Amino acid sequence: MRSPFDLTGRRAVVTGAGRGLGSAIAVGLAQAGADLVLLGRRESQAATRDQIADLGRGVEVVDLDVGDHDAIGRVAAEVNRDRQVDILINNAGVIDRENSVDVSQESWNRVLDVNLTGLFFLCQAFGRPMTERGQGKIVNIASLLSFQGGIRVASYAAGKHGVAGVTKALANEWAGLGVQVNAIAPGYMVTDNTTALRADADRSRSIVERIPAGRWGDASDISGAAVFLSSAAADYVNGHVLVVDGGWMAR
Ligand SMILES: NC(=O)c1ccc[n+]([C@@H]2O[C@H](COP(=O)([O-])OP(=O)(O)OC[C@H]3O[C@@H](n4cnc5c(N)ncnc54)[C@H](O)[C@@H]3O)[C@@H](O)[C@H]2O)c1
Repeated sequence: MRSPFDLTGRRAVVTGAGRGLGSAIAVGLAQAGADLVLLGRRESQAATRDQIADLGRGVEVVDLDVGDHDAIGRVAAEVNRDRQVDILINNAGVIDRENSVDVSQESWNRVLDVNLTGLFFLCQAFGRPMTERGQGKIVNIASLLSFQGGIRVASYAAGKHGVAGVTKALANEWAGLGVQVNAIAPGYMVTDNTTALRADADRSRSIVERIPAGRWGDASDISGAAVFLSSAAADYVNGHVLVVDGGWMAR
């Protein structure tokens, strides 16, 4: 009997899978049986592509700058043309750490363009055939800053609050059409996104002291949640933001 977590025969698109959480998620989905389309900067995806190919899964790399909103519709149409996309993981994201009084319009727009607007139009472009077919899973990568304000990251907090909002709004529209839209809110994970925090010894110590698990998260800590929300096991889970944070939000 097939496990409800089995993704064999499913095709998943993952954005920004070249490193960090996106790479761990893509490999986790492949381990669960999925074939992958890695959407992002081609030169940065080779290591993840090779890991997935070594697992014996199908894997393609497609160029896309998620901040280029005109390109999203064009590239998604190419991917959708002769492939059925069953799962979309919106993982690509950027962060600018600055005092709010110093944030430029350029920096604000760059963060929102990738983290929120690009994410929404990817949901739209891949969600349309899913809703027409009556089947699909979308998992958006949110953040603890979908719930909290953070420190010196106003644009990021605004975007990630928006990701939670878009996730719930789309879930309301698409749950009845057979498409589950959910999000994962990772806690403090060891990736390039948090290099500056980990380089600040005082900040890093205060973060770990607040995490009940007593450690930073590893990228692989996210994979199980991504497999679950991408699988039949989550067919009745809609509009949920699943926190994977070593207990941070429980404090
Ligand atoms: N690391 C954490 O503690 C943490 C916590 C909460 C949420 N997140 C979120 O997880 C996601 C992954 O981040 P990460 O921690 O792995 O950081 P990361 O910086 O290592 O990875 C970000 C990925 O996004 C890609 N990317 C960035 N801009 C892009 C663009 N314009 N077009 C295409 N791809 C682009 C990068 O190439 C990279 O692969 C992000 O959405 C981030 O906000 C991370």
